[in-house]
Amino acid sequence: MNRFRTRTATRHTPVKSEKAKPRPVLYLTEEEREGLRAASRFNASILDMVRQKIGPGMTTLELDRMVNEYTLDHGHRPACLGYRGYPRTICTSINEVVCHGIPDNTPLDEGDIINVDVTTIVDGWYGDSSETFLIGRSSPDAVRLVQVTFDAMHLGIAAAQPGVRLTDIGRAIERYVRSQGMEVVREYQGHGIGRDFHQEPGVPHYVPKMGASQEILRPGMCFTVEPMVNMGTWRTFVDSRDNWTVRTLDLSLSAQFEHTVLLTESGPEILTLTETGPQPGHKFG
Ligand code: MF3
Ligand code: CO
Ligand code: CO
Repeated sequence: MNRFRTRTATRHTPVKSEKAKPRPVLYLTEEEREGLRAASRFNASILDMVRQKIGPGMTTLELDRMVNEYTLDHGHRPACLGYRGYPRTICTSINEVVCHGIPDNTPLDEGDIINVDVTTIVDGWYGDSSETFLIGRSSPDAVRLVQVTFDAMHLGIAAAQPGVRLTDIGRAIERYVRSQGMEVVREYQGHGIGRDFHQEPGVPHYVPKMGASQEILRPGMCFTVEPMVNMGTWRTFVDSRDNWTVRTLDLSLSAQFEHTVLLTESGPEILTLTETGPQPGHKFG
């Protein structure tokens, strides 16, 4: 997700400003959509593989190597490796880690929850998706958190229809999560995606009180929906030892799911959905 909060383009940007203008939202042609579909499909196939292999005792570094090799063997490029200095291929965020956890030699434990976030570049197009896995038997709280996060993501995606406001996505997510007594992370958001990793529009998963985007969703837009949900406070901090790992401020559990979504004339098309992955309505635990 976007590491830095960006202002979405408005129609009121002064024309003669010398400041860097926000880059416009891109609308993809049918041919471009095919490029993005292919990249998303490949990226999602990696999570299909991870889902098969992941389990107690495995280290996150082993997962990282597996994804790196698979990507290179297929002639594609890992997007995260080297991105703003990020040292690995995937992000692995365990328990109270919200996002950007760095793979290391820690073995996964029975009862852990872990988000694996994968991004690849296929013929110049970015595919980006993530899933939270329950390792062995998890606590009822952990299962509930993962379920609420997954359902919230799909409610947000379903709200993305041509002609509605971008903020309707976050509204749907925030309303549901709060009704379940949990909180939505605010410092990190979804993002437009295409030939760039992170582009306009930013996609907040809650409704900002100030400076909310006036953007209207139109066919051809492509973006991620990737809510992070915490059992406790929405507030987070970045681990100063690596400047990447984001944790919940109260160290409560956090989960996340992410899909890449293309808005078509007839509604949202989830580009990173696969046959073996969890379908909307899936029940965890
Ligand atoms: N995949 C993340 C996202 O959903 C971004 C990770 S950037 C990294 O946008 F550098 F931490 F890998
Ligand atoms: Co993303
Ligand atoms: Co991602």
